[in-house]
Amino acid sequence: MAGIFLLLLLAVTSQTSPAAGETPPTFLKSVKPNPMSHLTEKLSHFRFYWHDVASGPTPSVINIVKPPSTNKTVPSPTMFGAVNMIDDALTEGPEPGSKLLGRAQGFYGIASQEEVGLLMAMNFVLLTGKYNGSTLTILGRNPVFEKVREMPVVGGSGVFRFARGYVQASTHTFDGKTGDAVVEYNVYVLHY
Ligand SMILES: *[C@@H]1O[C@H](CO)[C@@H](O)[C@H](O)[C@H]1NC(C)=O
Ligand SMILES: *[C@@H]1O[C@H](CO)[C@@H](O)[C@H](O)[C@H]1NC(C)=O
Repeated sequence: MAGIFLLLLLAVTSQTSPAAGETPPTFLKSVKPNPMSHLTEKLSHFRFYWHDVASGPTPSVINIVKPPSTNKTVPSPTMFGAVNMIDDALTEGPEPGSKLLGRAQGFYGIASQEEVGLLMAMNFVLLTGKYNGSTLTILGRNPVFEKVREMPVVGGSGVFRFARGYVQASTHTFDGKTGDAVVEYNVYVLHY
């Protein structure tokens, strides 16, 4: 009876631990104690105004890929395939001279053939107080003519290590002539 038990135990342990004589991997270690285990995750809400400035001598958005034509006769009405690179100011209020809190750096592409639906890939780098230098990464779908667009926060750095959450974006102003836009971003993020 005890012999069978010992055999079973050997069978199980031999599958989970390295065989005798085998050296443990040098490239992998679990971090003990986990430095996050005594911290509590908190939910923070930030509100930023995102300034996409296409006009003037120093635009913060530039077109880097022209929309390729999917129909040789007519260009796509949504500009499907176009890509813009951004380094947009994130401010406290909607006015252009409002206090700078950070920047939104990344790009967005027109990813829908039916509407102006963007794929956004950007880092919010904060420039203020204890958040200075920390980043949040936003990756999501932005159908710009909808009132509120929700996109995931997929991670972060600095004080935002292990961050997760979402943003809600709503257009504050859009100038159809220049392409300039101010968008309110409400960021809800769980972090330590
Ligand atoms: C391209 O657009 C033209 C004009 O609307 C249309 O007549 C044609 O059928 C389209 N071609 C394709 C391949 O969709
Ligand atoms: C943020 O960090 C940068 C680089 O370390 C520094 O130059 C700048 O003065 C800091 N800004 C604030 C508001 O602390």
